[in-house]
Amino acid sequence: MKNMKNKYLYIQTFGCQMNVHDSEQMAALLADIGYQTTDNKKLADLILLNTCSIREKAEQKVFSELGRLVKLKEQNPALIIGIGGCLAQHLGDRIFKRVAQVDLVFGTHSIHLLPQMISSLQKERRKITQIDFHRKLISLGVFAPPPKDSVSAFVTIMQGCNNFCAYCVVPYLRGPEMSRRPEDIIEEIKKLADHGIKEITLLGQNVNSYGNNLGNNFSFASLIKKIGKVEGIERIRFTTSHPKDLSEELINCFTEEEKLCEHIHLPVQSGSNRILALMNRGYTVEEYRAKVDHLRRVCPRISITSDIIVGFPGEEQNDYQETIDMMEKIRFDSVFSFKYSERKGTAAQKLEGKVDESEKLRRLKELQLLQNIYTLEKNTALEGSRQELLVEGKSKNSASDLMGRTRSWKIVNFRGKPGLAGKLVDVKIFKAYLHSLRGEIIQN
Ligand code: SAH
Ligand code: SF4
Ligand code: F3S
Repeated sequence: MKNMKNKYLYIQTFGCQMNVHDSEQMAALLADIGYQTTDNKKLADLILLNTCSIREKAEQKVFSELGRLVKLKEQNPALIIGIGGCLAQHLGDRIFKRVAQVDLVFGTHSIHLLPQMISSLQKERRKITQIDFHRKLISLGVFAPPPKDSVSAFVTIMQGCNNFCAYCVVPYLRGPEMSRRPEDIIEEIKKLADHGIKEITLLGQNVNSYGNNLGNNFSFASLIKKIGKVEGIERIRFTTSHPKDLSEELINCFTEEEKLCEHIHLPVQSGSNRILALMNRGYTVEEYRAKVDHLRRVCPRISITSDIIVGFPGEEQNDYQETIDMMEKIRFDSVFSFKYSERKGTAAQKLEGKVDESEKLRRLKELQLLQNIYTLEKNTALEGSRQELLVEGKSKNSASDLMGRTRSWKIVNFRGKPGLAGKLVDVKIFKAYLHSLRGEIIQN
């Protein structure tokens, strides 16, 4: 029998790490009005989809999930269905026209209003749409207690984006860039440390421009150094870093701040200067390569990962070839690659020279096969090396194995006692695969 006092909440998250963290905040806010999270949607009294709109495929996934939820609501008419996040921000009440069973649509700036909106839906089933942009950073301050036994947590340090890359919807759906005050961020990280968190990942669409709207000349590098002093936190990571704003001060942090892990995700998007200009990225391939060289000079062990889009409008075979040549020269540790997906309202939508779907797919597959070779090469170079791991818990592959990440963000599976979760251990790597490494504990 279901406990009548407790109400159950099921949240499904689509999209980026920022959305993952937003969902944690939603759960924390709803816990205050009596909702307990469940991973069984059949038990749920309230289902929230926290959606993404970055590519067409992301939207399709949301609508196919909604199709399944409609059936649940037929069995349980009391179920409340809410759609939040970027797709909700984008479509607003048009979602009701496509799926009449949805009760609530709320945008990326309205997370803090959730308890109020849900309480009002409990009293009266009148559809609610809330997609206003607010001038203040209201939602980001919500403290989401980390799940039991977790060792790593996200901290959102800024919202929005001012860059308007020609292909991207984020600035329209998350609003203008705004940074949180350093003291608020530090306070949150101290609380996380009190909950046993050892590693934090600072989130922002472009963390390099952190502080620009605060008017106090407090840079992202200064923030990292301040966080480095928080007791209990052993590792600091951040994402994402825009190449045009990557400063020397931040590059130097990789050697000056011991807790900052030697990994940077630095999306390049294309290896053609003509395409980079059309994308409005604000740097050339030569400038990008100079930053990579600088990073590797200052910190030879750094791992560098990237994002690449193939088939942007106007991308000819020779532009694509320039991307391939750049990958051969740079040798990223790994790459997330995507087919260009046209988004309504973006500058790229109006560009000529659209590339065929079949050609985009051909380029994507070829690029991924090539990157697999480089990724395996990079991983194999670690065979025989000693690596510090933060143990996250059980391995997905085998019940008797544990899993941890190296400072360079690589997954290592190894034999060990479950009690090691949350600890830093040293392992020796003896085998490299494409997506993980295999190691054994070095007994001190
Ligand atoms: N703010 C971050 C993350 C942006 S979204 C950044 O600037 O890196 C993550 C990645 O999705 C982008 O780096 C880009 O490679 C990809 N992306 C964004 N819009 C896209 C689109 N319309 N089509 C295909 N890929 C896209
Ligand atoms: Fe999108 Fe560019 Fe902003 Fe990243 S920096 S969120 S790709 S507009
Ligand atoms: Fe998607 Fe919005 Fe993140 S569009 S990638 S959920 S910022």
